[in-house]
Amino acid sequence: MTETSRSYPRSIECAGKQIEIARMTSADRDAVVAFVATLPAHDLLFVPRDIGRPQVIDAWMRALDGEEVTSLIARERDGTVVGCTAIVTDDLSWSRHVGQLRILVSPASRGTGLGRGLIQACFAQALERGLKKLVAQMTTDQGAAIAVFEELSFRAEALLHRQVADRDGNMHDLVVLSHDVDAVATRRQLYGLSDALNDVNPR
Ligand SMILES: CC(C)(COP(=O)(O)OP(=O)(O)OC[C@H]1O[C@@H](n2cnc3c(N)ncnc32)[C@H](O)[C@@H]1OP(=O)(O)O)[C@@H](O)C(=O)NCCC(=O)NCCS
Repeated sequence: MTETSRSYPRSIECAGKQIEIARMTSADRDAVVAFVATLPAHDLLFVPRDIGRPQVIDAWMRALDGEEVTSLIARERDGTVVGCTAIVTDDLSWSRHVGQLRILVSPASRGTGLGRGLIQACFAQALERGLKKLVAQMTTDQGAAIAVFEELSFRAEALLHRQVADRDGNMHDLVVLSHDVDAVATRRQLYGLSDALNDVNPR
């Protein structure tokens, strides 16, 4: 069995707490709204649309019923949402082989390994879907996200200068990291590292 055949829900331990990771459904709408409300607005800038707005979350929930958005949700034992992911594709575009990966963890749960767990889970799902190019963008101060994506052979592809404006009108740069699935697989085979993915993503 490879990492890409993970099933959900599954449990991971983060700093001594059991966190359940499950597929998100539209029934999670209110919990997601409450979760996003706990996040600093700065942490939402990497998403093209402002998910602080309930109508954007409603569109996200509707999209979960289709094929173009896949999300995971992470909850503590009491049901509190502490993180989520999204893989976004566009089947009608010339880039339907590209998946955009997005990860969010609540500030109180950061530094516990949850971000790494969610990024790896989201990456595995993207591979399972057969996507050929994976892209993640974030503000340049998201050191933890950049570090974990680089562990998964993502590389900086672009720096978008003054790409987003926060609610106070301050401009921020975004870095775009990408992973070319075939090129990385070929490189791993060349160097005899075909099991590297399983090493990085222990089951
Ligand atoms: C990015 C994010 C998901 C990381 O979540 P997290 O739970 O703190 O991540 P982890 O605890 O798994 O930490 C990941 C690693 O990054 C490392 N790290 C943390 N800050 C870092 C920094 N500034 N530079 C380099 N590495 C850093 C951690 O030490 C950890 O590595 P380790 O386990 O070897 O110590 C979280 O900060 C977040 O939600 N940010 C806002 C949204 C965002 O920008 N998402 C990314 C866009 S896709």
